[in-house]
Amino acid sequence: MNFSLSEEHLMIRQAARDFAQNECKPGVIDRDTNMQWPAEQVKKMAELGFLGMMVSPEYGGGGMDTISYVLAMEEISKVDASCSVLMSVNNSLVCWGLEEFGTEEQKRKYLVPLAKGEKIGAFCLSEPEAGSDATSQSTTAIDMGDHYLLNGTKNWITNGGCASTYLVIAQTDVSKGHKGINVLIVEKGMPGFTVGKKEDKLGIRASDTHTLMFSDVKVPKENRVGEDGFGFKFAMKTLSGGRIGIAAQALGIAAGAYELAVDYSKQRKAFKKEIINHQAIAFKLADMATEIEAARLLVYKAALLKDQHKNYDMASAMAKVFASEAAMKHTVEAVQIHGGYGYVKEYHVERLMRDAKITQIYEGTSEVQRIVISRGVLA
Ligand code: CAA
Repeated sequence: MNFSLSEEHLMIRQAARDFAQNECKPGVIDRDTNMQWPAEQVKKMAELGFLGMMVSPEYGGGGMDTISYVLAMEEISKVDASCSVLMSVNNSLVCWGLEEFGTEEQKRKYLVPLAKGEKIGAFCLSEPEAGSDATSQSTTAIDMGDHYLLNGTKNWITNGGCASTYLVIAQTDVSKGHKGINVLIVEKGMPGFTVGKKEDKLGIRASDTHTLMFSDVKVPKENRVGEDGFGFKFAMKTLSGGRIGIAAQALGIAAGAYELAVDYSKQRKAFKKEIINHQAIAFKLADMATEIEAARLLVYKAALLKDQHKNYDMASAMAKVFASEAAMKHTVEAVQIHGGYGYVKEYHVERLMRDAKITQIYEGTSEVQRIVISRGVLA
C-alpha cells in the first residue's frame, strides 16, 4: 500500500491550489452575495483542462485519472464550492456518462465541446416529487417513432441556466417501472424547452440552479443514450462516480474551514495567549484534523477503485456520507473557533458552513448513501 502521491498528482494539486487562490478567492464573497455565475473562473477552468479532466484526449479531455480529479476538486472547494460543483457536474455526471455510454456521433457532437469547456452540461434527474425516490419520474418521453416527445419539469438543476447540453432522465413506458426510463440529450434552444426560475439558495449561491420545463419538446431518437430503458441504470452508474466528486467537494470545504481555523487560532489571543494554546481550541482542531484525514482516505480509496475498474458503489457512498457529515460538523466548529468574526462574511467560514449543507443533500442525501451502503453490507 502506497500513501504517497505521484509527481504528476502533486503538480495537478498545485495547479488547482494556485487557481483557487489566485482566480477564485478574489470576488468569492461578492459572487456568493449576488448569486453571480463565475464566468471568468469557468473560462480559466476550461483553459486549465479542469472541465473535462478524466475524458480521453481523443474527445478533447485531459486523460487524467480520478485521483487527479479529486485532488483538484478538494483544492477548488477549499475556496469556492460554487466553482467546484459546476466542475463536478460537467466532469462526473455529464462527460463521464457520455464517454462511457454515448455513441461515437454523440461523443463527437456533444462530449468534445463539453470536455474542452466550450460548452457546459447539466444532469436533469430531480423532480418536484422525485428526489431520493429517483424511479418515480413524472417527466415523460413518449416514443413517436423517429423522436421522443418530452414533457415535464425538473427541479434544482445545477448549471440549469448556463448549460447548453442537458442529459434529461424521463419515463417512456410506465408499465416497465425503472426499466422504462430513458436518458435523452436535450439542447438549449430546442422548441418547447424553457429555463425557469433561478433558485435563491442557502449555499453555493454562485452556482446556477434552475427549474427546467419541457413542453412537447421533440428530441431526435439518436439523442437517446444507451439502449431503450437504460436511463435509470445510466443515472445510478453516473451518480456513483458523481458521489466521489461531491465527497471531494465536502472534503475540500471541511479542509478549507480547518485551515482558516488553524491560521486564526495562531493569531488570535485570549487570556494572554494565542487561542491555539488553549486546550479547548487545540482539541477541536485535533478532532477536525483527524476526521478530515479519514474523509480524505475514503475519498482517495473510492477514486482508486474507480481507476482500477473495480466496483466503487459502496466506497463512493461511504466517502460521500462521511465527508459531507465531517464538512457540516467542522465548518460549524470553524465558525465557533472564529467567534464573532466567524459570523461575518469577511472571514469566509460562514460561507463554507452554508456551502457544506448541500453536500449532505445533492447527488443523494445522507439517507440515500446509507441505503446504498447497507445494500452493500447485505450483499
Ligand atoms: N449501478 C448499476 N445499476 C444500479 C446501481 C448502480 N450503482 N444502483 C442501482 N442499480 C440498478 C439495480 O441493480 C436495479 O436493477 P435491476 O432491477 O435490473 O436489478 C435498478 O437499478 C433499480 O435499483 P434499486 O431497486 O436499488 O432502486 P431503488 O428505487 O430502490 O433506488 C436509490 C435506490 C439508491 C435510493 C436510488 O433511487 C438513488 O440513488 N436515489 C437518489 C438519487 C440521486 O442521487 N439524486 C440526485 C440528483 S442529481 C444531482 O443532485 C446533481 C446535482 O445537481 C449536483
